[in-house]
Amino acid sequence: MRKLITIKIIGFLLMTSAVLAQNQLLIPPSLSGTNINLTLQNGTHQFLSGTPTNTMGANGNILGPTLILNKGDLVNFSVNNQLGENTTIHWHGLHVAPENDGGPHTVIADNTTWQPTFEIMDRAATYWYHPHLHHKTDEHVTKGIAGLIIVKDSDEAALALPRTYGVDDFPLVIQTKDFDANNQVMVHSNGDDVAMVNATINGTLPTPAQVVRCRVLNGSSQRIFNLGLSGNQTFYQIASDGGLLAAPIALTRLKLAPGERAEILIDFSNMNGQTVQLKSYASELPNGNYGATYPGMGQGMTLTGYNPNPLNGANFDLMTFNIGTSTANPITSIPTTLVTVNPIPQATVTNTRTITFTSSSMGMNALNGDFLFNNQTFDMGVVNQTVILGSTEIWTLTNQSPIAHPFHIHDVQFNILDRGGVAPAANEQGWKDVVLVNPMETVRFIAKFEDFANDTIPYMYHCHMLVHEDGGMMGQFIVTDTSTVNTATIITTEQVAIFPNPTNGMVTININGVDNFKVNVYGIDGKLLMETMNKEVDLTTFPQGFYVFKIIANQQVVTKQVVKVE
Ligand code: C2O
Ligand code: CU
Ligand code: CU
Repeated sequence: MRKLITIKIIGFLLMTSAVLAQNQLLIPPSLSGTNINLTLQNGTHQFLSGTPTNTMGANGNILGPTLILNKGDLVNFSVNNQLGENTTIHWHGLHVAPENDGGPHTVIADNTTWQPTFEIMDRAATYWYHPHLHHKTDEHVTKGIAGLIIVKDSDEAALALPRTYGVDDFPLVIQTKDFDANNQVMVHSNGDDVAMVNATINGTLPTPAQVVRCRVLNGSSQRIFNLGLSGNQTFYQIASDGGLLAAPIALTRLKLAPGERAEILIDFSNMNGQTVQLKSYASELPNGNYGATYPGMGQGMTLTGYNPNPLNGANFDLMTFNIGTSTANPITSIPTTLVTVNPIPQATVTNTRTITFTSSSMGMNALNGDFLFNNQTFDMGVVNQTVILGSTEIWTLTNQSPIAHPFHIHDVQFNILDRGGVAPAANEQGWKDVVLVNPMETVRFIAKFEDFANDTIPYMYHCHMLVHEDGGMMGQFIVTDTSTVNTATIITTEQVAIFPNPTNGMVTININGVDNFKVNVYGIDGKLLMETMNKEVDLTTFPQGFYVFKIIANQQVVTKQVVKVE
């Protein structure tokens, strides 16, 4: 499965020296608004000198556009598959209905278009999208389909943070790939010896001399990065997977496992003319992490193709910040606080479950998997868990295998309760959808399963090492609504009554024949002011003026104006 190691290493060194400071870091274009069109396509990309690499991308040859979406918006997506084979697109981290989630059951056949419409219900944070076809996830992601989703909300907008995309707010998709002798991407490989950011090897990013924000995604198939800046410069984590943290956390190292995101601030004030490297200090990774010197707990355990790989257990550069003049209105200081994080109270827990990770291979070969949840391999036809809609649950993850696995669950953002009985570090005390579970460690999280139920389409939970996921380290759960079944009636503007209007306080909303709906109230400036599932909306404390009500029901939205008078 390996080609000539010496050729690979020489190639790696040549690339490092020859191309350094010449590759401008690619910044994917952005798409915003409420109509998002993606075309999945084949292409080529010049990663290495010589033969171009065959790639897959969304709206281009490699990666996909960054989607910039507002909380509260109802967005129409159109995903056209021109790959010549089936795939899916999953909105990793977004809280959406099972039928809109893009898991392995929601196949987009070749030459067809998938058109989900859903409301963005998520907190401001950095999410991402990627294919999720069973057995094909690694291939489609590693060949290039992955894009960031930036969600904005009013809490985030109220903070003095950098937020001009590509100017002081940068997407950084960190990946490694393994190229064969003909420069083609190798799938399900442990020989991923080429690191890149935004598909750029040794990229350089022109950066203003001020506080900048980086939205970092580990989009690798398997590799864990131990991020840090050259000179051990301090940086500040402000967001985890699914939301801003309570306050910026000063760090010199940040471990990021596949699937995880972190937003960080770096203060480049007064550094005009200098360069700073973003690095992975993998020499400091504990054994038992993919990327450390030894991928298992003991050095006797072998992982096929892992050694020799010049990245394992070594410190290496990911990219360079090339600091230039500052922008017109720079952010020059790190905020002291961010948002209120209200963790899910443990008193509300109605159910607990345990997921045990094991390897189906024994002894010294255990690192080669396949890895299992509760001794079962993934089966599209088997529902592994059934969750009652509205329940709050604690999941206990116990890793009885010798390698760390990043566990990911769809539908929810969770709070980590503890690692081995101890509260997590400050930067893990926010909203998460991936958690790295170290060998022989037990991690507990709490999550609430609300809003969406579907008795036929399950959500997934899986290891986000794509080689493990494709190998069957995945399970599925149904969220079931034990009360009512909603019929998909068409809702017309005439059907929606809001009264009294004008109002001096309370208004009542009634939709003929529809019981469950959501109301978003916006100011005339388009700012989301209130979200509720109540039929009575209280505007008593609102100033007089015009308000826009968006009533969302049965995947449809009706917009009405309401006048508040004294
Ligand atoms: Cu990022 Cu189920 O995936
Ligand atoms: Cu996901
Ligand atoms: Cu795994």
